[in-house]
Amino acid sequence: MSRRKIIAGNWKMNKSPSEAVALVNELKDLVNNDEVDVVYCVPAIDIVPVVEAVKGSNVAVGAENMYFEESGAYTGEIAAPMLKDAGVKYVILGHSERRDYFKEDDVLLNKKVKKAFESGITPILCCGESLEQRELGVTMDWIRLQIKSDLDGVTAEQVKTLVIAYEPIWAIGTGKTATAEQAQEVCKGIRDLIAEMYDEATAEAVRIQYGGSMNASNAAELLAKPDIDGGLIGGASLKPDFGKIVNYNK
Ligand code: PGA
Repeated sequence: MSRRKIIAGNWKMNKSPSEAVALVNELKDLVNNDEVDVVYCVPAIDIVPVVEAVKGSNVAVGAENMYFEESGAYTGEIAAPMLKDAGVKYVILGHSERRDYFKEDDVLLNKKVKKAFESGITPILCCGESLEQRELGVTMDWIRLQIKSDLDGVTAEQVKTLVIAYEPIWAIGTGKTATAEQAQEVCKGIRDLIAEMYDEATAEAVRIQYGGSMNASNAAELLAKPDIDGGLIGGASLKPDFGKIVNYNK
């Protein structure tokens, strides 16, 4: 089975609304590739103008976070139905920056994952180990714990459409990319876990990205690995380099 690659930019806390539109326009002619799904995950305040700016193109828009409640007294939060109404197709959940700086745990993330599916938004669920965990040899144990908790009660049909991003924390924003072999090993481990939790068909369908200092020069090698179905790109997604990553196969 061949899975369609998905290349997603994670803009993080960068670009004001007007800067966001300028970036979309700058990248417009560079990110055309009919063979891959292209997503811009942008700050909440940029969603509406970016949805407008990508209209008629191959680019889908994602959010970087959301809350699990439908509506109500949650000052400062954004609900899944609001994102859906604005035209959002994907939402990054459980990025290590949110787990670390904003203390998001797997119980909370599980609620968010279920709410995203219920609202018709595809989660890009992030997981990944710290350098200390890698050195201790507990990488896969840790990731199994994250994925099992985050997907508790999520159905096989939902997981078939899910995107999982494997992002070793030591590789994020550091310029220190995992080798293609290291990334493949963990992505394969995640796929095996999905087969164990669900079944082979679900494991074959789920898309698993690598993220962490992916750039125009290392993307092709990473994306050539059999279990790496795409990338979640931070720094390089804000530059014309993103177009080169999207066109890694050209
Ligand atoms: P990076 O970020 O590409 O800048 O390392 C990736 C991410 O955090 O999603």
